[in-house]
Amino acid sequence: MTQTEFASHQDHPIWWQRGVIYQIYPRSFQDSDGDGIGDLAGIMARLDYLVALGIDAVWISPIFPSPMADFGYDVANYCDIDPRFGTLETFDRLVAEVHRRGVRIILDYVPNHTSDQHPWFRESRASRASAKRDWYIWRSSKPDAAVPCNWLAEFGGSAWQWDDATQQYYYHAFLPQQPDLNWRNPAVRDAMLDVLRFWLDRGVDGFRVDAIHHLFENIELRDNPINPDWREGMSPARRLLRTHTIEQPEVHDAIAAMRRVADSYGPDRLLIGEAYLPIERLVAYYGSDLSGFHLPFNFHLIRTPWNPTAIFKLVESYEAQLPKGGWPNWVLGNHDRPRLASRIGKAQVRVAAMMLLTLRGTPTMYQGDEIGMADVPIPPERVRDPWEINVPGLGLGRDPERTPMQWDASRNAGFSSVEPWLPVAADYVETNVARQAADRRSVLSLYRDLIALRRREPALSIGDYEAVAATEHVLSYERRLDERRIRIILNMSGIAQQLSPQVGAKGRLLLSTLRDREGEDVDIRSLDPDEGVIVKLR
Ligand code: GLC
Ligand code: MG
Repeated sequence: MTQTEFASHQDHPIWWQRGVIYQIYPRSFQDSDGDGIGDLAGIMARLDYLVALGIDAVWISPIFPSPMADFGYDVANYCDIDPRFGTLETFDRLVAEVHRRGVRIILDYVPNHTSDQHPWFRESRASRASAKRDWYIWRSSKPDAAVPCNWLAEFGGSAWQWDDATQQYYYHAFLPQQPDLNWRNPAVRDAMLDVLRFWLDRGVDGFRVDAIHHLFENIELRDNPINPDWREGMSPARRLLRTHTIEQPEVHDAIAAMRRVADSYGPDRLLIGEAYLPIERLVAYYGSDLSGFHLPFNFHLIRTPWNPTAIFKLVESYEAQLPKGGWPNWVLGNHDRPRLASRIGKAQVRVAAMMLLTLRGTPTMYQGDEIGMADVPIPPERVRDPWEINVPGLGLGRDPERTPMQWDASRNAGFSSVEPWLPVAADYVETNVARQAADRRSVLSLYRDLIALRRREPALSIGDYEAVAATEHVLSYERRLDERRIRIILNMSGIAQQLSPQVGAKGRLLLSTLRDREGEDVDIRSLDPDEGVIVKLR
């Protein structure tokens, strides 16, 4: 991207181009009513923490009425709040309290499937003649009585569920309790677009759109091909390539329709799309002429080996493939993937934070990563994630990254007055918000200072990205805006590193992961183990 193509972003950035997004997994953020499950009043009680952290927007995972087969990603009513979380009235108060603090609020939107308890599905399954039969994907069995085709569900088993009463199968990309909606039916599309309007009318600032690449399937139900790269130990769903079950061309039209609804509420409503895809296929989700998502989630930092050359290449390839005017974004973790600290090791967590907050693109952080929370081992009797229950022992379960937020050293880490729905990490007495807030060398303080620095130095948010170098252990790049050049140098190893003159930097040290020398004039020629620095060049 050239300087001029970005001129408009640099002159008139939209809030989310400069902002930092924080994901709240509401079941595990803060319980206020003593049922061991987080809730909206709990979020409200912690808003000042988020303001102090400096984030610009919260995205809250689903809070709608749900049987919780997939912990809220099975929605039984899109236009209400689950009583475990609160009421519409609490929600309205939350929106007001969030906005009063200058923060935005983004909701999860789950368009691919409903709960099997949603009134639409109950009506659909009532009879083959039901007016809502075609709202879902029903098919008869083949003459030989096998399933309609070979498609597999993400969470294990066939994607076809037999319904005895009406003697047909319905399709579910995830759990049988999550029947897929039929987006080819205009009535479904209208009803689902109305859901966006319902929440936009209540003042929400955008949506994170769930599992978007699953929205359509091949209408002829063609069998998916065998995946030649599948090996024992991988998810059984990956035995087949998803040629006919994801990324069907119709999806872009549906996204553009969602986008038109968001845009009709003004230019600053944000749509984020969730799809784990290689970059060349992910960028299609910006839509033609940017008519799609503002931010198709870029999960590649989660999947790329944690070393300088791999990440250097990743950034280069992402920057090169972004469509003209498309805004980048980066994610280090979420409620579906092992925790950052467990993936790359505790020692590298600070380097990762510095990278996330200095790469070009909107950063999304996951609750707890800012204190370096790690995956929590879940004893068998406490496993809750249906994926782990259906497909055990392969490390697919998501409970370890969904455990309660560690607020302080009191019982249950200050999350709840009772035993929480998932166990609290054993190390919560050492690793918690209260302790780290009081320690300027903590991971939390580093995050807070990185976010504040990003706000102070627009080069870090809207500046251009310039690669400097990647060696075996050191990654270096610059962010540039007008005359300002800020160099980031990251030691991605636990061994001290000498820097070549090309990589070293003279200037003012803006921030170091070691929290020393800040504000001093420095001549950086080496880095300590696991050290990262941000230097404003002279
Ligand atoms: C998305 C969600 C995940 C959920 C799935 C089905 O990937 O992030 O938690 O299980 O969609 O809705
Ligand atoms: Mg509660």
